[in-house]
Amino acid sequence: MFSIPIICGSTRRDRQSIKVARFVLARLQQRPNIKTELIDLLECNFPIMEERLHRRDDPPPGLKEFAEKIGAADSLIIVTPEYNNGYPGVLKNALDYLLPEYERKPIGIVTVSAGGFGGINCLAQLRLVCLGMGAVPIPENLSVSRVQDTFKDDGSYDHAYDKRADGFLDEVLWFTEAIAARKAKDQTK
Ligand SMILES: Cc1cc2nc3c(=O)[nH]c(=O)nc-3n(C[C@H](O)[C@H](O)[C@H](O)COP(=O)(O)O)c2cc1C
Repeated sequence: MFSIPIICGSTRRDRQSIKVARFVLARLQQRPNIKTELIDLLECNFPIMEERLHRRDDPPPGLKEFAEKIGAADSLIIVTPEYNNGYPGVLKNALDYLLPEYERKPIGIVTVSAGGFGGINCLAQLRLVCLGMGAVPIPENLSVSRVQDTFKDDGSYDHAYDKRADGFLDEVLWFTEAIAARKAKDQTK
């Protein structure tokens, strides 16, 4: 059983990315031997990061639980909107609270944009951040363009994304299994 939480990095009023995050969650839930859940940064509502968790004796509410989930995860999926060619500050703020929890963990990135380029600039920036975290951003990604048209408020969506999401999740699982096997080998030493 692998644990793969999905972080939703959009907290904006009328946010569209949450629909994509719920869609990816539903596709991942169809896979066997996977434990997953949506970690919604809107619900987390972490304050501005004054210091990393391991240096705080007064962690903000919910941060320890967040750290435990990330620490126990085999890999992560981050769903992020593109804002001004980057990712939202609220996502970086949450990610910056932790560090050892990310070590050598595969991270699959899903980008969401209102425009036609699917958040490609945001993808490049977030991959760099993941490397800085000591994680392993995987080569495959899922980009959602014109989200307001492709994922509608009534729950309907462009079913071309079924195949794209499944291909992306196949790769997330490949890296999850490969790295988990290597970590297990380390533990037998
Ligand atoms: C501050 C801000 C900056 C944005 N910058 C971009 C951008 O650079 N490229 C783009 O395609 N869409 C941009 N958008 C539109 C978002 O991609 C759009 O809102 C989309 O629905 C995903 O974000 P959401 O989860 O907040 O809805 C921006 C939106 C906001 C609020």
